[in-house]
Amino acid sequence: MDSFEITKIAGAVLSALLLIFGTKTLIETTSHHGPEKPGYVLPVAEAKAAEAPASDKKDAGGEAKTAEAAAAPAAAGGADAVALLGKASADNGKSIFAKCKSCHTAEKGKPNGVGPNLHGIVDRPKGSAEGFKYSEGMLAKGGKWTFEELSAFLTNPKAFVAGTKMVFAGLPAAADRADLIAYLASQADTPVPLPK
Ligand code: HEC
Repeated sequence: MDSFEITKIAGAVLSALLLIFGTKTLIETTSHHGPEKPGYVLPVAEAKAAEAPASDKKDAGGEAKTAEAAAAPAAAGGADAVALLGKASADNGKSIFAKCKSCHTAEKGKPNGVGPNLHGIVDRPKGSAEGFKYSEGMLAKGGKWTFEELSAFLTNPKAFVAGTKMVFAGLPAAADRADLIAYLASQADTPVPLPK
């Protein structure tokens, strides 16, 4: 009888512990579902904030809005670098491409990295590298990469493609973009001639 009582008490204690730790683990596993790719979530969140009506962010987003406004003019076009392509240096562009190499390859047949392989990117349909999982924003953009659009994208990636997965601040200097685009254009089976 005694040992039966002990067994009952032990059983009660064990199930109480099981309940407590079981619930704790459950709460932890469900609440620990944080973003798997922070770099991906951030631009989306920012893009959403940008879409929000201005009245919503009058109070909280005053400073952010000023920063956006400062970056906006440079993001608008892309023509600035296109005008320099005739005199651009693909050699110098190759050195600037060092900034991209952590994520991109440009030679033919090289694998995708964090970003897609960029071989033949000029005139290539956007979001078309085989086997690469693009953001919805990039896939929705449509059309082929012209010199001007490459320039606009590289000035400020997330201003050109809302919600892009490319976590890169951008190249503000038109001359740098021109040299880089000249290099990218050279990385193709049949390079698209640079505009004079
Ligand atoms: C931190 C990683 C990273 C860096 C650095 C980076 N990129 Fe990207 N890039 C990406 C990702 C990821 C994508 C896919 C974007 C998407 O799906 O929205 C991308 C997309 C692109 C595209 C569109 C490709 C296509 O197939 O449509 C071009 C062009 C591009 N990058 C050029 C560059 C250049 C040039 C640089 C250097 C100045 C650079 N990127 C730096 C990650 C990066």
